[in-house]
Amino acid sequence: HPLDFSGVWRFRELLPFAPDDAIVTIGEGQTLCQRADSVAAYAGLNPGRLFLQYEGMNPSGSFKDNGMSAAFTHARMTGANRAACASTGNTSASLAVYCAATQLMRGVIFIGSGKISYGKLSQALEHGALTVQIHGDFDDALRRVQEVSRQLGIYLVNSVNPFRLEGQKTIMYRVLEARGWEVPDWVVVPGGNLGNVSAFAKAFHELRALNLIPRLPRLAVINAAGADTFYQLHEKHGLRWAGGRFDRSEIDGYYAALDASGRKPDTLASAIEINRPVNLPKALRALECCDGVVRAVPDAEILDAKAKIGAGGLGCEPASAASVAGLRALVRENVISPTDSVVCVLTGHVLKDPDETVAYHSADRATFDAKLGARGVKSVAFPNR
Ligand code: F0G
Repeated sequence: HPLDFSGVWRFRELLPFAPDDAIVTIGEGQTLCQRADSVAAYAGLNPGRLFLQYEGMNPSGSFKDNGMSAAFTHARMTGANRAACASTGNTSASLAVYCAATQLMRGVIFIGSGKISYGKLSQALEHGALTVQIHGDFDDALRRVQEVSRQLGIYLVNSVNPFRLEGQKTIMYRVLEARGWEVPDWVVVPGGNLGNVSAFAKAFHELRALNLIPRLPRLAVINAAGADTFYQLHEKHGLRWAGGRFDRSEIDGYYAALDASGRKPDTLASAIEINRPVNLPKALRALECCDGVVRAVPDAEILDAKAKIGAGGLGCEPASAASVAGLRALVRENVISPTDSVVCVLTGHVLKDPDETVAYHSADRATFDAKLGARGVKSVAFPNR
């Protein structure tokens, strides 16, 4: 069937909100789940226990395309001809690519005035989406785009949109498929707006309810230390879903304190530089469902992990590497055991954010230049980090 060329829609029985002829696909869901022994050793896992689910092979270079194809499908069903998002870069890149490739929608993108990688910004511009930069951070941009799209009747494709998450469930279907439907002990994922973790738990919960898997994996969400709202609320304040009876005033109080302190989110992992994750309630439920934990890792550990992943043969962006940095922290804490089977999700391609990568390796380059000067090309050696 033509829809089977999409790594999302070949699972369409499990996201049954659209008739086949409404489905929008540009071939998303081309991913691989690769055994990564050198990265396992770095994180403290035994050989053969770590698999990396690589989402960089999607049309726009990140996992967002899984969700965008589902959102575009729903948007088309509603008759929309304009779609908008706020973004730290990848959602906007994905929206722009889907607009250009399908010609179904005009794209409107809100970005904050903080960090956005040039790789991602160039995608939005190249594919012709209307790109608006606002004063403020991602959280401000998301608030504004929600207002504007409500007022003007523009279809919103941020992960508050539940159809986005339906598409992102398929990342876990492909993980299971690659592992012969063997459920891993842990799935580790970076946390920004917390759409992925919500989608993953829903995927597993539904597969379990259908008796297609014998048990649920545990979920670990990894924040950057400079944007760690979910970590603070879940691990430090003990906030729990509690069957939906969780204390919303705890969240509001936390945000009020954040505002009062003037503390803005700040991490080199710009994709997850988010203080007010819109899917926080859903993510609490996801953790309850899959016995999850949250950790926060400093930028230096994220960049080290990224280089180890790269040295193992998969190039990812900083936010993606938070998963491996978080895994390493959890093994150190004995929460994850060296014999557990783990899947870390690598959410975006290394070319998304080349500046961070070049800056990180500039120490290597200095050594290269110095040795070149002293002893000539033959003796060039890169230090082993
Ligand atoms: N990794 C990458 C590469 C991302 O771009 C994002 C989110 C995440 C992880 C976090 O995923 O939101 O589901 O928890 N990027 C959004 C954007 C916010 O605008 O592109 P999440």
